[in-house]
Amino acid sequence: MNFELTEEHLMIQKMARDFAQNELKPGVIERDEKQQFPTEHVKRMAELGFLGMMVNPKYGGAGLDTISYVLAMEEISKVDASCSVIMSVNNSLVCWGLDKYGTEEQKQKYLIPLAKGEIIGAFCLSEPEAGSDATSQKTTAEDKGDYYLLNGVKNWITNGNSASVYLVIAQTDKEKGHNGINCLIVEKGMDGFMIGPKENKMGIRASDTHSLMFSHVKIPKANRIGEDGFGFKFAMKTLSGGRIGIAAQALGIASGAYELAKEYAKQRKAFGKEIYKHQAIAFKLADMATRIEAAKLLVLRAAYLRDRGLPFDKESAMAKLYASETAMWVTTEAVQVHGGYGYVKEYHVERLMRDAKITQIYEGTSEVQRIVISRSVTQ
Ligand code: CAA
Repeated sequence: MNFELTEEHLMIQKMARDFAQNELKPGVIERDEKQQFPTEHVKRMAELGFLGMMVNPKYGGAGLDTISYVLAMEEISKVDASCSVIMSVNNSLVCWGLDKYGTEEQKQKYLIPLAKGEIIGAFCLSEPEAGSDATSQKTTAEDKGDYYLLNGVKNWITNGNSASVYLVIAQTDKEKGHNGINCLIVEKGMDGFMIGPKENKMGIRASDTHSLMFSHVKIPKANRIGEDGFGFKFAMKTLSGGRIGIAAQALGIASGAYELAKEYAKQRKAFGKEIYKHQAIAFKLADMATRIEAAKLLVLRAAYLRDRGLPFDKESAMAKLYASETAMWVTTEAVQVHGGYGYVKEYHVERLMRDAKITQIYEGTSEVQRIVISRSVTQ
């Protein structure tokens, strides 16, 4: 068993850390407050190769492994989880599926600009009445011969307005249930495709989340991913990998809050000594460090399995479940360590606590991860 990162992993980790600390940190509070989409920072992520990290270089990607991706996600999430969710959706939920299941034509037209970060993508599964219960798709893609007619509403879509390409899951044949679902590539600007207002969110406020409306949108058959009826399995396979990215995001949020709490505890004095010398705080730091380390091992193990082409559905669910619960717990404790200062924006930890919450919800709630894990362990 080898726990050491390679030279290349360490280099990518450093590159992501420098970018996050030097370029993302200044302005992160303001972007959160104003819900300002980080356009310039997304361009920089593209230049650094962070938007198509695992895509074959032939299609504009960096050709790196999942471990590199989680290391970069972790560093960026320590500082700015809004940027890391934009990165995660583009890498795991959009580029990965196109790279793995797209036709050559789809790759040339969509994957190359997405992997280069010239444009970004969105993944559209959730609906007003289909969140955890993802097979209950109300959006329809009616088969009209050489095209599909798309009608319906999608909710809580990350990159909702900033994306140019949308992977939309929709029901074609209701009688076939989940085997009658397709995934279609939809372009912004197609007739009948409307973007709803931006959601005013608790956390990851600089990312843009929108509902989307489709009214008689004509989608060419060539824009379907995979065989007819493959859409639900495509979504599940995509999310299984995506959950490693969100687990890495949660790990980064937890680590970012822990580092701030440790730093603060070494400076702040109470009752005549630095507060880290009080057992009440020292034990909190010990518990934070232990849970973060456990989360890191789960995240790296899921990434490792995926890189070796081994089954990882259970492990990615475990990594996401544990890392997101850790992020929520650690960030709450980090606010507590900071006391009154933790409750104000300039100390960063309150934002990390707000950001942590979504990691227990999106790409499958903690309850959905428990469904995936329990089904796997009782098989
Ligand atoms: N890989 C391949 N196939 C899979 C699979 C996987 N990981 N998981 C399930 N399937 C297949 C099953 O084998 C089954 O096919 P067969 O009938 O042919 O065997 C089919 O898919 C249906 O699966 P289930 O019977 O398990 O379906 P279910 O209705 O019981 O639901 C669920 C399972 C795990 C709860 C699923 O609905 C789910 O994951 N829900 C959560 C959805 C989710 O994560 N949404 C996130 C939205 S995207 C997002 O958040 C992005 C963002 O903005 C950041």
